Amino acid sequence: MNYTTLNTGDKMPMLGLGVYRVGEEEQGVSAMLSAFKAGYRSIDTAEAYDNEHIVGQAVRESGLKREELFITTKLSNPSQRSGDPEAAFAQSLQRLGMDYVDLYLIHWPVKEHFVQSWLAMEKIYKSGRAKAIGVSNFQSHHIDAIKEVWTVVPAINQIELHPRFTQKPMLEANKTHGIITQAWSPLGGSRDADFKGNMLNDKVLVELGQKYNKTTAQIILRWNIELGIVTIPKSVTPHRICENIGVFDFALTAAEVAAIDALNQDHRVGPDPDNFDF
Ligand SMILES: NC(=O)c1ccc[n+]([C@@H]2O[C@H](COP(=O)([O-])OP(=O)(O)OC[C@H]3O[C@@H](n4cnc5c(N)ncnc54)[C@H](OP(=O)(O)O)[C@@H]3O)[C@@H](O)[C@H]2O)c1
Repeated sequence: MNYTTLNTGDKMPMLGLGVYRVGEEEQGVSAMLSAFKAGYRSIDTAEAYDNEHIVGQAVRESGLKREELFITTKLSNPSQRSGDPEAAFAQSLQRLGMDYVDLYLIHWPVKEHFVQSWLAMEKIYKSGRAKAIGVSNFQSHHIDAIKEVWTVVPAINQIELHPRFTQKPMLEANKTHGIITQAWSPLGGSRDADFKGNMLNDKVLVELGQKYNKTTAQIILRWNIELGIVTIPKSVTPHRICENIGVFDFALTAAEVAAIDALNQDHRVGPDPDNFDF
C-alpha cells in the first residue's frame, strides 16, 4: 500500500474500499473482511449510505487495531439542513462504535448551509474526534466561499473522477490550496452499466492492460495513483476486491498517464454539485 500525507501531517492510504450501496449486513461485513485480508486499511462510508454500523461490525470482527485503519464518513445533506452537524457526527461515531474517525467530509455543498457546516467541522476537528476534515463535491467557488471563514484548510476534496471525467481544473484548484483530491466512482460507478462497460473497454486502457498484464480497472486505479489522487473503488466481489488493490507492483509512464488523461469527455455519471435536489 502507498500512502499520501495530508495537510494534518497524518498518512492516508492511496487506495481504500468504497461502500456506497453496500446495504446488506452479511455481504458488507464479508466484503470488508475480504478487503482487510487483501491489505486494504481504508474504508469510505457516509451517514447517507446507511451502513456505518456495518463498517463498525466489520472492523470489530477483523481483529485489526483501530490505529491501523483509516475510516472516513460524511455529513449528510439533511443533517446540514438540520443545522446540527455536531449531533449528526456524534450519531455517526455511535453507529461506527468508534470514538474518532480519521476523516470527516461534508458530503455535498448544500446551498446556504455548507459554509456554516464547515465551521462546525472545524470544531469537531479541534475536539480531536476527527483526525482530519474535508469536503466532497466542492467546485472551486465552494472552496472559495469557505476560504472566507476557514481557520482549517480541508485535507481532502472527494469528487467524481474517472477517465471520462478527469477534472483537471478542479485537480489544479485543490492543489493550489494543498488539498488532496480523492476520486469517487473511479471505475465509472454502478449507475450506468453501458457507460461503465464502454469506459472499461476503451482501446487505450485495453492496450495498456495487455502491456502490463493488468485489467483495465487496474490501469485506471494506477492512473489515479500516478496523479497523486486517492482512490476508493467499491466492490463486494472478493476477486474484484483483490484485483483492485493489485496496483502497487507496476507503474505507468508519463506518456501513458497523458494518454488516459486524453480520454476525458467531461462526462459526469453522478449529480452536478451546482444543481442537485437531495
Ligand atoms: N462523495 C460522493 O458523493 C460519492 C459519490 C459516489 C461514490 N462515492 C464513494 O466512492 C466509492 C466508489 O464509487 P462507486 O461505488 O460509485 O463506483 P466505482 O467504484 O467506480 O464502481 C463500483 C462498481 O464497479 C464494480 N467493480 C468493482 N471493481 C471492479 C472491477 N475490477 N472490474 C469491473 N467492475 C468492478 C462494482 O461491482 P461489485 O461491487 O458487484 O463487484 C460496482 O458495480 C463509493 O463506494 C463511495 O464510497 C462517493
